[in-house]
Amino acid sequence: TRTRPAPPNATLRDVAHQLLQPSKGILAADESPGTFGKRLAEGVPNTLAVRREWRHTLLTTPGLEEFISGVILHEETFIHGEADVKAAVGRGMVVGIKLDKGTVPMPPKKAGEVITKGLEGLAQRCERFRNRGGALFAKWRAVFRVGPHTPSRGAIRRNADDLAAFAAAAQGCGLLPLLEPEVLAEGDHDLHRAAAAASRVLRGVFRALRQRADVDPGAVLLKVAFVTPGQQATEQAEPAQVANATLRVLLRNVPRVVPGIVFLSGGQSEEAATANLLAISRLAREREQAGKAPLPWALSFSFGRALQGSALEAWQRGELKAAQAAVKKRARENAQAQQGRQVK
Ligand code: 13P
Repeated sequence: TRTRPAPPNATLRDVAHQLLQPSKGILAADESPGTFGKRLAEGVPNTLAVRREWRHTLLTTPGLEEFISGVILHEETFIHGEADVKAAVGRGMVVGIKLDKGTVPMPPKKAGEVITKGLEGLAQRCERFRNRGGALFAKWRAVFRVGPHTPSRGAIRRNADDLAAFAAAAQGCGLLPLLEPEVLAEGDHDLHRAAAAASRVLRGVFRALRQRADVDPGAVLLKVAFVTPGQQATEQAEPAQVANATLRVLLRNVPRVVPGIVFLSGGQSEEAATANLLAISRLAREREQAGKAPLPWALSFSFGRALQGSALEAWQRGELKAAQAAVKKRARENAQAQQGRQVK
C-alpha cells in the first residue's frame, strides 16, 4: 500500500495522520554534525561529504517507504542533499526538519541542566524549509537530566515555554511540530524516579501549551523516551515493566487531543528498543482486549540510533547494499513491533 505525498496544503492534522499510519514509523536522521561524529568509527572523517553520502545511502534504501512514513532531517541535508529529499517525498515519505540548534548549559551550571537554542529567527527558518524545502513537520528537542535535584522546576518551566513557543511558530507557518522533551537515561536512578521525572516534564510541557492561545494541541506530535531505570542503575527493567511504567506516565499526563506519541531510542540497543516498542504495543492491545478504552493517541517509533546503528557500521566497511538491507530490516521489525507483532 503505497501512499502519495501529502499535498502542499495538507492540514497539520492530516500530516500527523500520515506520519502515524499503522505499521510505519519515523526515521530520525537529523543528527547535528557534532552528534554524527560520535556515531562514526574512529578514524572516519566527519566531513560534509561523508554525512551526505551516508544520508544518500539511507534515503535511497529500496522499499524503505514500506515501513517508514516520515524522515527527520538536519538542515544540511535540505541544503546539500536536495535531490535525496525530493526523492524521499516522491516515494511517499513525509520529510521533517530539526529546527532546534542544540543545547547550552542553563545557569547555574552545576546541576548539568541545559536549554535549547534556536528560537531566534525561527519563523523565517520555518518558512524557508516549509516553502522551499518541502518539509511538512519540524522537530524541537529539549533535554532533561535525572539527578538528585533535577529536572529542576526552573529547567522544566524554561524548556516547556520554549517548546510551546516553537510549537506556535511551527504551526504558524504550516509545519506540524514534533515536540521532543527527552528525559535522558543517563544516571543510576530507578524506574520509579524515572517515571516521576517524566511525569513532571510532561505536565510542564502541556501546561505551557495550554497557556498559549496560538497553539493547537491537536496538531502536535510528542516524542519521548521509554521510561526506564537509569543506564547505571543496578536493577534494570524487563520490557513489560518498561511498557507498564511508560504507558502509565503517558496516560496520566498526555491530553487525549494529541494525535500521536512516538518513541526515541536514546542509546538503547537496536534489539532493546524494538523489544520495548513491542511490549508497549502488546500492552495496549491487552488493555483493549480486557475491555478498557482504546488509547487516545497512536503510538509509534521515531528512532535514530536503533534504526541506523548496524547499517552505519556496514556502510563504514564499504558494504552499501548490506547497510541498506540492515536499515530496512530494523524498519520492518519496528513496524511489526508497532503492531504488536514479533518478526521471527
Ligand atoms: P535516538 O533514537 O538515537 O535517541 O535519536 C532520536 C532523536 O531524534 C533524538 O533527538
